[in-house]
Amino acid sequence: MNFIRFSDLCTSGKVAGRRVFIRADMNVPLDDSGHITEDTRIRASIPCIRMALEAGAAVMVTSHLGRPVEGEFKPADSLAPVARRLGELMGREMALVTNWVDGVDVKPGQLVLLENCRLNKGEKKNDETLARKMAALCDIFVHDAFGTAHRAEASTYGIAQYAPIACAGPLLAAEMDAISKALSSPRRPLVAIVAGSKVSTKLTILKALAANVDQLIVGGGIANTFMLAAGLNIGKSLAEPGLLQEALAVMQAMKARGAAVPIPTDVVCAKTFAADARATVKAATDVADDDLILDIGPETAKKLAAQLKQAGTIVWNGPVGVFEFAAFENGTREIARAIAESSAFSLAGGGDTLAAIAKYGIEKQVGYISTGGGAFLEVLEGKTLPAFEILQKRAAG
Ligand code: 3PG
Repeated sequence: MNFIRFSDLCTSGKVAGRRVFIRADMNVPLDDSGHITEDTRIRASIPCIRMALEAGAAVMVTSHLGRPVEGEFKPADSLAPVARRLGELMGREMALVTNWVDGVDVKPGQLVLLENCRLNKGEKKNDETLARKMAALCDIFVHDAFGTAHRAEASTYGIAQYAPIACAGPLLAAEMDAISKALSSPRRPLVAIVAGSKVSTKLTILKALAANVDQLIVGGGIANTFMLAAGLNIGKSLAEPGLLQEALAVMQAMKARGAAVPIPTDVVCAKTFAADARATVKAATDVADDDLILDIGPETAKKLAAQLKQAGTIVWNGPVGVFEFAAFENGTREIARAIAESSAFSLAGGGDTLAAIAKYGIEKQVGYISTGGGAFLEVLEGKTLPAFEILQKRAAG
């Protein structure tokens, strides 16, 4: 992907004394009393902010928080908790500016946080007047909000159209690089793991990957539907029988290319969905009518792990079993270990996947962990994200 990198502008001295507008994604979860429960996205936004300050810019940063009603400020929608946390992490006072669209007073070396950009009327619909006003606030627009890269809003898309310069911040650039490396020009074999409860929510992803990957490992409820399509009994396991034809089509598309969707040969079953339910390992052909499949079996896990160790590139979205319950975590743990031990470039993303990565402590051994939720899924669906499209267009001149 050809786009302007903010880091290049900084090293070539083009940022000193300039007004820099950074669109970050600091949309963090808050508890009922408004306390941040998880601050990864704030931490991930800091390198770009520091880069801009060190380059001598006058720095404005904004983010959305939640999905507020435009034009209707409510305290719960304020970035105030984010400002506090950012101030702590940066070790400096953080000014939070409201009503900023018509002008921001910020000098080189200063940093201000602009209140929740989704409070501005016209933000969601990418209103041109709003976008032009925001673009007029800066000399350089830096898109560093990968989590929002699938949205074409005024602060993510319109501003990139009209700002004098539009470039990618270090976080967005790293995501773009990792995605290119994993999906556009992967080292083969390319293995994807797509797991989750429903085929229907990941059907577009499965179809898109079926045209590109060498092995498509399915897990969770998705694997159950594929097992059903392969003619196996899955008892009362979660599945979508209405999507058997779609599952078959994915398997056939893969087969036609000499690729494969490995179907589990053994599974871990229980009679109830509970942490203390008795786990029984069974051959995939022996599942009883009252069984629930809650994990892949040890033989399947071993085979998949061996394949992952041979891979050139691995894309991981979703745990393959109910890894939150000790009795049903073996499959996901083995997959995580195999990814960690593989020399393949690995790209992982999605809430549950990040939880599994944290649980097995393999953060450092994964090639790239995406910060995007919906944006990461849209990448896997094969879509061109609006952020990528506009930044490439602006780089082309
Ligand atoms: C996310 O949480 O995935 C991003 O911040 C995007 O939020 P949105 O779905 O409200 O656009």
